Amino acid sequence: MTAAEKSKEKRLSIMTLKVLAMVTVVSMLCIYGVRDVALAAMSPTTASQAQDIYRAENKGREEATQGQKFVEQPESFKGSVLEPSTCGIPPDSRFDCAPEKLISQEECQARGCCYVPVSFLDSAIGRPWCFFPPNYPSYKMKNLTATETGYAAHLTRDTPTFFPDDIMKLQLDVMFETEGRLHFRLKDPANKRFEVPLETPQASSQASSTLYSVSFSADPFGLIVVRKSSGQTLLNTTVAPLFYADQFLQISSSLPSGFISGLGEHLTSLLLNVSWTKVTLWNRDIAPVPSANLYGSHPFYLALEEGGLAHGVFLLNSNAMDVILQPSPAVTWRTIGGILDFYIFLGPDPKSVLRQYMDVIGYPFMPPYWALGFHLCRWGYVSTAVTQEVVKNMTAAQFPLDVQWNDLDYTDAKRDFTFNKDKFKDMPNMVRDFHHDGRRYVMIVDPGISSSSPSGSYKPYDEGLKQNVFILNATGQPLIGKVWPGFTAFPDFTNPRAQQWWHDMVKDFHDQVPFDGMWIDMNEPSNFVEGSLEGCPNNKLENPPYVPGVLGGSLKTHTLCASSKQYLSSHYDLHNLYGLMEAIASHDALVKVRGKRPFVISRSTFASHGRYAGHWTGDVASTWEHLYYSIPAVLLFNLYGVPLVGADICGFAGNTSEELCVRWTQLGAFYPFMRNHNDHKNRPQEPYAFSEAAQRAMRRALLLRYSLLPYLYTLFHKAHSAGDTVARPLYLEFPEDPNTWNIDRQFMWGAALLITPVLEAGKAKVSGYFPLGTWYNPLDGSTIHSKGQWILLSAPLDTINVHIRAGYVVPLQEPALTTTESRTKGMTLGVALTSEGVARGDLFWDDGEGLLTFDKGDYTQILFLARNGMLVNEMVKLNSQVDGLLLQKVMVMGVPSPPRYVLANGIPVADFSYRLDTKLLNISLSLLMGERFVITWS
Ligand SMILES: *[C@@H]1O[C@H](CO)[C@@H](O)[C@H](O)[C@H]1NC(C)=O
Ligand SMILES: *[C@@H]1O[C@H](CO)[C@@H](O)[C@H](O)[C@H]1NC(C)=O
Ligand SMILES: *[C@@H]1O[C@H](CO)[C@@H](O)[C@H](O)[C@H]1NC(C)=O
Ligand SMILES: *[C@@H]1O[C@H](CO)[C@@H](O)[C@H](O)[C@H]1NC(C)=O
Ligand SMILES: *[C@@H]1O[C@H](CO)[C@@H](O)[C@H](O)[C@H]1NC(C)=O
Ligand SMILES: *[C@@H]1O[C@H](CO)[C@@H](O)[C@H](O)[C@H]1NC(C)=O
Repeated sequence: MTAAEKSKEKRLSIMTLKVLAMVTVVSMLCIYGVRDVALAAMSPTTASQAQDIYRAENKGREEATQGQKFVEQPESFKGSVLEPSTCGIPPDSRFDCAPEKLISQEECQARGCCYVPVSFLDSAIGRPWCFFPPNYPSYKMKNLTATETGYAAHLTRDTPTFFPDDIMKLQLDVMFETEGRLHFRLKDPANKRFEVPLETPQASSQASSTLYSVSFSADPFGLIVVRKSSGQTLLNTTVAPLFYADQFLQISSSLPSGFISGLGEHLTSLLLNVSWTKVTLWNRDIAPVPSANLYGSHPFYLALEEGGLAHGVFLLNSNAMDVILQPSPAVTWRTIGGILDFYIFLGPDPKSVLRQYMDVIGYPFMPPYWALGFHLCRWGYVSTAVTQEVVKNMTAAQFPLDVQWNDLDYTDAKRDFTFNKDKFKDMPNMVRDFHHDGRRYVMIVDPGISSSSPSGSYKPYDEGLKQNVFILNATGQPLIGKVWPGFTAFPDFTNPRAQQWWHDMVKDFHDQVPFDGMWIDMNEPSNFVEGSLEGCPNNKLENPPYVPGVLGGSLKTHTLCASSKQYLSSHYDLHNLYGLMEAIASHDALVKVRGKRPFVISRSTFASHGRYAGHWTGDVASTWEHLYYSIPAVLLFNLYGVPLVGADICGFAGNTSEELCVRWTQLGAFYPFMRNHNDHKNRPQEPYAFSEAAQRAMRRALLLRYSLLPYLYTLFHKAHSAGDTVARPLYLEFPEDPNTWNIDRQFMWGAALLITPVLEAGKAKVSGYFPLGTWYNPLDGSTIHSKGQWILLSAPLDTINVHIRAGYVVPLQEPALTTTESRTKGMTLGVALTSEGVARGDLFWDDGEGLLTFDKGDYTQILFLARNGMLVNEMVKLNSQVDGLLLQKVMVMGVPSPPRYVLANGIPVADFSYRLDTKLLNISLSLLMGERFVITWS
């Protein structure tokens, strides 16, 4: 036996002891068995009350008060038949025993559960009144054994649950994959169930040391994960019974804190409310409203722990699901298919958690440089003439614009891969003209393929039929729904044939119109009829025994029949992956067709989307409320590994006001993906459509962004190469400061920039939190020395507050009207010194659009280091792309006293200035970025 084997042997025996100990505890608990729960006959009043309450709930809020009178029950009804010792669980720690419907006392007790009515309001917020007693039957763990990577065991249950088709025997695998990553999986050993086709890293052996320890409860089964360093229990699934029926899988766990971010996509603040929040994941086309399941699904959360530690949990499962947070605090994952496949990331700090998550789902793709410029779009640019006029107007008003877009206006009868031969007849030339001026062009593409054009007249459908690429209905024919072009079939992107066909269609169109990127919309997929033109069959996939809280109440609402057939499985399993699969197909097609870095922006997403594409936050409204919500949305997508994200600037739906549009453009200048997009009915909201004063403010914000693009691009490189975020919540940088945890009206770009936008009407001041340290405002030269405090900042309409954090060097570049032009301009280094006079930073630079430049080593990376009155650079890697780039300015913030001289490579610099009041040293010079330099001041 090797030493490693010996140590495993030892661990296993310790584990067995632990398990035995728990079994003892558990069997003691069994004294209060379910047998003891007497099932009292239900009084007629109770039955009718339950019915009435059910109806009241269904009628919604307006009539809620009517239901209230029914729940005021005589004391004698409250848990009358149950042992207080069994059911005396604090309300916040109760786990729902009737998740699928409102049930009567009799039904509840027939399930062996506790029945304790709560007030209507409590019930409305989600507090269960039928809940599991502590000893409720669940799985038992048997035969725990050591494996190469951790442990394996069998779980069995003796009695079925109240859901059909229990899987009575399960296989548990626990894999100690890396120091920070634990993986556990519950499968049906007898039958293959659907698993998300995500290529995940496989560990061949157990990590030699781990931040976590794992122990088990054997009966009822539970898995407990403890952070070794703090002794904190991060996960304890013993808190409620495990369900593993064919269409109802549920596992609950305690949470170490109520500070949770994630579980998107929803209209939400950065932190979720753990006071009985149910979030539903089922991709859906709907203008964002609170509580609704929106366009994407990311079954991942990050939880902050005391002391600035954090962990993350990812359930790799694409089925419709609910996740319930309750104030004990605890979480319940409730999915209606697939397997339970969990990854736990131990961090220990929040940034490491995200990197560990991205190790599993993939690091973000590297966007082309131009993708970081300004994008302009609107539904209603009805012709090439209008589209070109927009670009002309932007240029005339001196607004940067990198990418001009078109919505469906460009198409012939709203069909993909066509262009209108009347209003857009010169579309190819329009795009070539944009290219000539250093701009790019992107148009919308929807997945629905028109199925009603005369045969032989529309190649995408004809070819698609021939190659059998469409999703099929119960009779094995293409399922037909209705989207913008009318009747449509839906490509099944899980089918390799469909991926090839999609590529061919993209290529055909690109041969005609040399577009640069794809905007893939409506890919939840959206359908204007429920399920299909013929509706949906009545079967267990369409009508599962538990329907998560999806808007509309049915899986088929506004999408395809769940039981429609796709290459990999039924739509029931694949629905949430539709947008991701289309994004992959589009990404791959663009790589082949253009031979350059692809640009794809998608509405629908799933975990790992960021590897292939970006996201915009859908049909947001032109309101101050949605302006605010865009910040948590952008931050959360960064946590999900989708850093290229932004909201429609000035809002998509409804008329913006000038003030809102100014504030939104200022905030939008700090979305990683910056696009202004508008609905066709609304007043124009291009920057030039407003007053001179508003235009000045917007121009200023745009130029500020363009100045910062080298820094932004470098952040994207770090996201791509190291699993970092680009726009990030303050808690990623300052996790040990709990004041930062719920801040989502400010955010950071990387580690160095703090952005404090105005999010309310009529305000010329804004209050911002400044974590401990020194913060420089490079625009007005002011400095904040913060002890970790709120500070009221001046914020007139032409200003967005941006502060540079002491200790960082930020690379900047003179802005221009396109990135094609700005990329050749002179660079500036913003050097923000700490009180010790130190700062550091870096620059990533390449051709901006080549494929795999990082992998091929075809890039430049330069470090900048300031210390002791000296700024030096260091070449990590050098390529020719940086040739000719000049460093023309250095702006040193926090220079304590006026320097007598400044030297560049030992030669005196004549052109420098210093201000005593701001302690800002400005140096003008001309050095090659690609050559070593030493700049000193003294
Ligand atoms: C546990 O192992 C024993 C002996 O190998 C075997 O008989 C039993 O079926 C196993 N139990 C389960 C639940 O796999
Ligand atoms: C896990 O939860 C069970 C049930 O609530 C409890 O009895 C046990 O003490 C918990 N274990 C840990 C380590 O927190
Ligand atoms: C959380 O939800 C509860 C119940 O709905 C509500 O009373 C409370 O105000 C919410 N908390 C926050 C911070 O929104
Ligand atoms: C371009 O600007 C002109 C002059 O201000 C204006 O009349 C026209 O409507 C603008 N065109 C578009 C498409 O916005
Ligand atoms: C399947 O779709 C075809 C159209 O492609 C339709 O004629 C047929 O009725 C559909 N079958 C079912 C069961 O809905
Ligand atoms: C929005 O503004 C347009 C004018 O540009 C007007 O016709 C329309 O009625 C406005 N819509 C609303 C909802 O106010």
